[in-house]
Amino acid sequence: MTVPPRQTTPALLQVDAVLRRLQGKDAVQEVCRFLRMEFPHYRWVGVYALAGETLKLAGWDGDQPTEHVEIPIGVGVCGRAAREKRTVIVDDVRSAPEYLACFLETRAEIVVPVMDGATVLGEVDVDGNEVKAYDASDAAFLGAVAKKLVGPLKDVLAARSGGPPSPAVPP
Ligand code: SME
Repeated sequence: MTVPPRQTTPALLQVDAVLRRLQGKDAVQEVCRFLRMEFPHYRWVGVYALAGETLKLAGWDGDQPTEHVEIPIGVGVCGRAAREKRTVIVDDVRSAPEYLACFLETRAEIVVPVMDGATVLGEVDVDGNEVKAYDASDAAFLGAVAKKLVGPLKDVLAARSGGPPSPAVPP
């Protein structure tokens, strides 16, 4: 159990508070920062937005930037999660042939799609430094976070295509 149940509800309430305060890319960025600060086993947290067939990094928090700011669907662990429309947990990245290496210290990864109905809007990508860093509790928690990121990611995608932002989430 890597996300204790007692931490789940307060953390989701904090995410709600962020989303009342911020929109679009700013909201995505702040959620990444919050998740990494709150959970020590989340060493790098990024959110990608899916534009056409390409995942584009919309926000991240970690010690270093990633070179993978754009990932085609189907490529890497991120691209696999988007193509298969499901959460992917990699226990040991050294045993995952499709893994796109970012950081030497990374040993495990979890990627959770952000779904709007049957449409992939993007995904949450978290890297950890321990083998088997993530389990079903992370999948459930990050799945709940991903649901909350539907609005911000729609805004990010609308801004990229020149459209107006969606209305702010009511308090
Ligand atoms: N490892 C990912 C690429 C993104 S980085 O982890 C930030 C992958 O295999 O798709």
